[in-house]
Amino acid sequence: MRSGAFNRRSVVAGALALAACDRPARSAPADIGFVPPLKTAAPFPVGTCLQVAHLDQPDWVNLALTQCSQLTPEWEMKMEYIVQPDGGLLFDRPDRIAGFARANGMRLYGTTLVWYAQKPKAFEQMAADPASFGKAYDSYITSVAGRYRGQVAGWDVVNEAVAEDGNGWRDSLWSQRLGAFDHMKRAFHVARAADPDAVLFLNDYNLEIIPKKLDTFQRLVERLLAAGAPVGGLGCQTHMPADLAAGSLAKAVAALGRFGLPVHVSELDVSLSRARQRFARRADLEAGQARLYAEAAQALGALPARQRFALTLWGLRDRDSWLKGENAADMPAVFDDQGRPKPAAAALAAALQEVRG
Ligand code: XIL
Repeated sequence: MRSGAFNRRSVVAGALALAACDRPARSAPADIGFVPPLKTAAPFPVGTCLQVAHLDQPDWVNLALTQCSQLTPEWEMKMEYIVQPDGGLLFDRPDRIAGFARANGMRLYGTTLVWYAQKPKAFEQMAADPASFGKAYDSYITSVAGRYRGQVAGWDVVNEAVAEDGNGWRDSLWSQRLGAFDHMKRAFHVARAADPDAVLFLNDYNLEIIPKKLDTFQRLVERLLAAGAPVGGLGCQTHMPADLAAGSLAKAVAALGRFGLPVHVSELDVSLSRARQRFARRADLEAGQARLYAEAAQALGALPARQRFALTLWGLRDRDSWLKGENAADMPAVFDDQGRPKPAAAALAAALQEVRG
């Protein structure tokens, strides 16, 4: 099952896509010369998300092996794939991805154990009493995190906990049944018991765009840590529009860095069609895209080395991006449909090299 129903931004995005409409594509790839492989340019892991289907595409495999040192299953390690209608768990695809990572010496990252946007029927239909619901919740986290124990470097334990506008936390099946704060704290403890070595992350988006959301996210981290939850890392998704003001991303990453925990630039992409300026020139958007990819590397690079967990691209080639579902004309990645580096790849590689020194 790969349902658009889980893609909760598609409604908002649809409206934005209408506003941004299709911008003319570049006629020919820019001649940008040699771009060093990202993983060799970088002083920290560089990852990409992937789907099992990619493993059967030699071009994708070749590009990923050349460029990346870390893999995150895009959706097949989430409830949307693992939880079956009868409540059973299916692991064939995440196992295959984990096996591929292992066979190729790549780091594996898991997303996501608890996400408001995914509430399988098997959980919805369950008795609402906190004791039995809590048992099933714990059992899911234990089974999944336990299965990949020793294989994943880290997990997004709770994904997107902060409300869209930054006013408090999200309401979800999990918060309703187990408590707004308690379900999060509980998830971290259960994940810790299931995999003592994985770095456990709280992951969210728009932290570089909505100051109030960044603020609420920081307060939540403080509160979880104060309550003894084993939060070990902070994820900044960084799904950004190409015309995002310079410096906002660096500011958000620096703010997260102040906790002293590892920071993951966890789902990096830079959308041309999500740009807010309705009549922005294509060339300006592409320049903005390159600048923001570079800024992501610089922002992570500005943290102490032990806090630079990884920089993960949410799609290697334009055609791989989830944002295509929102606007087919978008080109949010650093490699084009054919896997050729775009100016954004050159800018990212140069920034990574600069950070490495
Ligand atoms: C998206 C994937 O790209 C889709 O394939 C999947 O169906 C739904 O999730 N924020 C997140 C990611 O935390 O997990 C989302 O990934 C993109 C937005």
